[in-house]
Amino acid sequence: NTPLRLGIAGLGTVGAGVVKIIARHGGLLTQRSGRPVEIAAVSARTRDKDRGVDLSPYGWEDDPVALAQRDDVNVFVELMGGSDGPAKAATEAAISAGKDVVTANKAMLALHGQALAEAAETAGRVIRFEAAVAGGIPVVKALTEGLAGNRVTRVMGVMNGTCNYILTRMEHAGLPYDTVFDEANKLGYLEADPMLDVGGIDAGHKLALLAAIAFGTQVNFHGMELEGIERISIDDIRHAADMGFRIKLLGVAQMTGRGLEQRMTPCLVPATSPLGRLENATNMVLLEGDAVGQIILRGAGAGEGPTASAVMSDILDIARGTRVPTFGQPARTLTTAPAARVSTA
Ligand code: NDP
Ligand code: HSE
Repeated sequence: NTPLRLGIAGLGTVGAGVVKIIARHGGLLTQRSGRPVEIAAVSARTRDKDRGVDLSPYGWEDDPVALAQRDDVNVFVELMGGSDGPAKAATEAAISAGKDVVTANKAMLALHGQALAEAAETAGRVIRFEAAVAGGIPVVKALTEGLAGNRVTRVMGVMNGTCNYILTRMEHAGLPYDTVFDEANKLGYLEADPMLDVGGIDAGHKLALLAAIAFGTQVNFHGMELEGIERISIDDIRHAADMGFRIKLLGVAQMTGRGLEQRMTPCLVPATSPLGRLENATNMVLLEGDAVGQIILRGAGAGEGPTASAVMSDILDIARGTRVPTFGQPARTLTTAPAARVSTA
């Protein structure tokens, strides 16, 4: 069978993780997808950095756009990050050059995913992004495949591990927000721009993508009610606990009579509920469908292994020739509704 040949742009946490899985599980991947999955070439900013993996068998490009356009690349794997700049330019170049795309880049997709998905559809290509939402949790596939026979009624969850770490650590250690923020920073949890995490923006990006898939609408990050955790105090957390609640940065998306309601805000959840019992940097997504009822997915939302695992699932789907619709459907009138800040989930 013809090999599927990858061009991987970005060899940081996630990119190196993907290279390691392919080096480790090559035979297994061929068995599962029906064709060999090979790396044609890679790209990063610095060529001679030790990434804990042998890159000598692969071609190299300094410029990710050149990588995206190589004749020996079938699938462009974008793992650089950033909503614009090289990530977007190379993704557009890949689609124009007739390549399928796999990306973990929630920031790029939340802002440009609609246009990129439409360009891919026009070119007869696909853009897949399982890793962009809740890292290792296969939530995109749960929606597009597992719940394909349902009308989805609600999507909700904790989708930023850093915020959940900060909130649970404040509670357990009795430490103020600023102290725990510094601790999270030292542990390497925070994004390069910490506001993406604590401002709720990263989680909002993920919710916007899930909502578009779940409800067949256009991606509409700007139509979301958004609030981060920076103003949550240890007293807020204690008062919540006194009433049997915990504070979570909770995303909720549901279709209402007025349109799509999307909000990512700090929310009180019962301490004994599945969401209330979520500790540290773990993610949890609850999906509700008219046939299936509620299902709960829980796991690592970040990190080398979990995120690379999700990237691989998209690569194997492309190798198998699976074509699933994501977003890119005709727009509906979207509104944001006032939020109720207490969840019964
Ligand atoms: P890193 O910062 O660890 O790695 C980024 C990589 O991209 C580096 O190898 C860097 O090169 C390379 N790069 C950056 N700019 C360029 C450029 N202009 N040209 C070529 N290469 C470039 O990021 P992560 O691996 O953590 O994240 C990658 C993507 O995955 C992001 O979109 C992120 O949001 C997403 N993601 C990450 C998760 C995680 O747990 N880390 C979880 C879910 C999604 P160099 O190494 O030489 O500097
Ligand atoms: N900063 C993100 C988080 C990384 O904490 O969840 C994974 O998207």
